[in-house]
Amino acid sequence: MYYPEELVEEIRMKNDIVDVISGYVRLQRKGSSHFGLCPFHNEKSPSFSVSRSKQMYYCFGCGAGGNVFTFLMEYEHDTFQEAVRALAERAGVKLPEADDSPEARKKESRRATLLSANKEAAKYYYYLLRGQEGEQGMRYLTGRMLSRETIHKFGLGFASKYSNDLTRYLKQKGFQDELLQEAGLCTIDEKHGTHDKFWNRVMFPIQDASHRVIGFGGRVMGEGMPKYLNSPETPVFDKSRNLYGLNFARSARDDNMILCEGYMDVIAMHQAGFGQAVASLGTAFTQGQAGLIRRYTKNVYLSYDSDGAGVKAALRAINILRESGMSGRIIHLEPYKDPDEFIKNLGAEQFRKRMEQAENSFLFELRILERDFDLSDPDGKTKFQQEIARKLCGFSEAAERENYIEAVAEKYHMSFESLRSLVGGYAAKEGFAGGMSMNRPMKAAARKSAPRDGARWAQRLLITWLSEEPGLYDKIKKYISPRDFTIDLYREVAKRLFETLEQGSLQPASIISQFEDEEQQREAAALFHSKLPQMALDKKEREKAFHDILVRVKTYSYEYDSAHMGSDIDALSRAVSGKKDLEELKKTHISLD
Ligand code: UTP
Ligand code: MN
Repeated sequence: MYYPEELVEEIRMKNDIVDVISGYVRLQRKGSSHFGLCPFHNEKSPSFSVSRSKQMYYCFGCGAGGNVFTFLMEYEHDTFQEAVRALAERAGVKLPEADDSPEARKKESRRATLLSANKEAAKYYYYLLRGQEGEQGMRYLTGRMLSRETIHKFGLGFASKYSNDLTRYLKQKGFQDELLQEAGLCTIDEKHGTHDKFWNRVMFPIQDASHRVIGFGGRVMGEGMPKYLNSPETPVFDKSRNLYGLNFARSARDDNMILCEGYMDVIAMHQAGFGQAVASLGTAFTQGQAGLIRRYTKNVYLSYDSDGAGVKAALRAINILRESGMSGRIIHLEPYKDPDEFIKNLGAEQFRKRMEQAENSFLFELRILERDFDLSDPDGKTKFQQEIARKLCGFSEAAERENYIEAVAEKYHMSFESLRSLVGGYAAKEGFAGGMSMNRPMKAAARKSAPRDGARWAQRLLITWLSEEPGLYDKIKKYISPRDFTIDLYREVAKRLFETLEQGSLQPASIISQFEDEEQQREAAALFHSKLPQMALDKKEREKAFHDILVRVKTYSYEYDSAHMGSDIDALSRAVSGKKDLEELKKTHISLD
């Protein structure tokens, strides 16, 4: 549920950032800021600063930054809504009730009962595994090299040989037949009555990110079909929005996740020290799962089976990750079948090596694609290269695309220029041209400082500088307006910043929470923390630096408008007045006093 802006702002103001963060990090006052060891990266001397006046935090070491909401989002891996709720509670602000209708309440209590049935079932299976009945199961699991500790950590259990054992137990605990059926724990048929869904299997409880048991996977001990039986989807078990192992992986220390195929892979990986391993739930990897991972990290390693089916599944997963703005890297396990086998044979150290050698997912795709072409035949080779070019068009960001063209050209022994023009040809044909600047060849070195990035940089600096020294606003407002910020998000931030500066009530922390999208919030926060030219510079040098930034922003804005005159009527008049302002700005001295 979305909360109104005023309410969010009220909650923010009632939670002083220094007080809140002090609950997590030891802070020491130094000048106008508080400093401590950054909780978002490893460090020995404090570069994490919290400012009471700005109500923001920023780490000079790793660049993490934001307001009190983003802090909780980063630290607790909360969503924005969750952070709002937690801080509302902390400050005693009452939130509007969630949907409070009788139906909604009934649904909620049904969910709670389903969860408690699952929990009781898990406890029962857990108990059986450790008793006489579970001996065979325990032998099976230890035979697969799982330690007692691991078996305990994952709450593994055993479903007995009697086909209505669990149902009887749970009914006696007060659960109704029909609820157990809805939970997927038993089936009812007219002839035989109720009987357990799982029997004579080792049981893997599936937990959500908050450790609640939402379903089960049950494996036969040894050969047998089906190898795994899984709970069906239920009101509490959405297979496309949960990941096996995420309840542990979410708090793993490494800034990456390792995506595997199987339950056993995840367990073996955790046992070997890779607490960031997760797996999908007996179904293909989904968009919802990608979104879930993205809350914690953008670095995903794929550790799928090395057989044909595994490669196919990996290719699908790569596409899904890409659609969510993440790029996966492929860990190769040859000659072993899956991570579980690999670890058993070669150990954790070797696995870590394979992680370091993981293959870029785009290059992996090309390598698989290559198999479909006969590269010894000129026609086959051309077709392959055309296919590569077509795929390269998929990178909409110029710098990224250029880097890939470079890497691919090198790998497949093509000339950079010829591959580039092939890509350009495709782009034009398929209408990608709008976002691509293929007609202006750029040297590799020049690419690094493409004008767009220079614009980005200057615009960021200006936003930070104005928030540090709000007094400068009056001196520059004659020359610069939010329209001069050519990047959408920056323009939006500038608009709000200028409004608050106009009213003399600068509140960068409130600007951030006005963005709904979490990614935007992070990016907006970063705008207030770009690295300003050394404060150690003397006044004259700083004045020059500030002036340079203004001129740069204004110049890009002018160039941007000039380039859009053909398609945008207003751009013409903006370009004309922009040119005038720019000339004047160049001649004007702006003092930092
Ligand atoms: P695997 O066959 O690779 O499973 O299937 P695994 O975890 O490595 O199991 P072991 O090592 O043979 O014991 C990968 C995943 O696909 C699902 C399960 O989620 C499994 O972990 N699966 C597989 C099923 O749901 N049913 C099956 O019959 C087989
Ligand atoms: Mn396996």
